[in-house]
Amino acid sequence: MLQISYRVSHFFGVVVILSISSVVIYWKSHQIRFTYSSIANPTRQQKTGIPIKACPKKSPYLVGPFVFHHFIGTLEDLNNKYEKYRPELGGKFKPLECQPRQKLAIIIPYRDRRRHLIDFLSHMPPMLLRQQVEFTIFVIEQDSPEIFNRALMMNVGYLEALKQDDYSCFIFHDVDMYPINDYNIYQCSTSPTHMAVAVEKWKFGIPYRAYYGGVVAYPKTVIEKTNGFSNLYFGWGGEDDDLGSRLAVVGLKFVRPPAVYGRYATPVHSKDKGNPEAPNRFRLLNDAKRRIWYDGLNSVVYNVSKIEKKKIYTHIHIAVDRQKLEESVELKKREP
Ligand SMILES: *[C@@H]1O[C@H](CO)[C@@H](O)[C@H](O)[C@H]1NC(C)=O
Repeated sequence: MLQISYRVSHFFGVVVILSISSVVIYWKSHQIRFTYSSIANPTRQQKTGIPIKACPKKSPYLVGPFVFHHFIGTLEDLNNKYEKYRPELGGKFKPLECQPRQKLAIIIPYRDRRRHLIDFLSHMPPMLLRQQVEFTIFVIEQDSPEIFNRALMMNVGYLEALKQDDYSCFIFHDVDMYPINDYNIYQCSTSPTHMAVAVEKWKFGIPYRAYYGGVVAYPKTVIEKTNGFSNLYFGWGGEDDDLGSRLAVVGLKFVRPPAVYGRYATPVHSKDKGNPEAPNRFRLLNDAKRRIWYDGLNSVVYNVSKIEKKKIYTHIHIAVDRQKLEESVELKKREP
């Protein structure tokens, strides 16, 4: 009898100790979670008064070269993968541990490249978070049937992103180019930067010296100076070369990162179907320097047909009427 009651009390003793320790563990983990979320969320952080430091000039998380992998999965899978970083609706990501120095909008001129887009969304955020960058990815899709106009989508992306937040840095990015070195930092200096300087499809080089395609970073102040980009390049080619001319007019030049950093994987290379060469591109390039004052942000016309704020990015659909656009540029030109 005595032995049984001893066993019973021993048993209850263990139960009591176990339950006390699990309550303590639960409480501790809850506390940790609370601290974590107060860092992730500035408004709550202001309430609790925990100061948040500015991010260091150089992130401690950079790993250098890394590899591109195709992502086997869906957008939903990616939403789940990134949930722990707590992006705001529309895909605004911030480093959780410090206050970033710039607000970056990544603008992707887009049409009909679903598979590349999934790869892009899988590849980019981990690198940008290691770089401690605050960023939002904007996919700017031009509706059919008008011929695709990449530089026009860049203008639209700039204007539409600014309606969402006061971004200070804009990176215009092809959807099928994937950076493979962390030290190629996604931020703006005071000069425009051509970032894609060692591109896989050109044997980790560029096709010609004055090539400014693929990926370019512009601080907001520079976009204002150049009146954005030309609206008139319908079809493939020319618009990249136009950028260099615009910068020359306002006395600026592209800078480039060292080729060991500015490396990009281009695993799939297919020439765009349904995007014929722009037949008038040489004529346009010839007077690119004159057009800067009337062909750009101050004459662009378009309609937003849909804005989709997804969990990890913002998808904006744009309707373009080529005739209206060309008329608008012409009108601006005749303005005194
Ligand atoms: C925008 O929509 C309006 C109204 O539907 C239409 O009249 C106009 O032509 C459209 N503009 C463009 C550039 O598509």
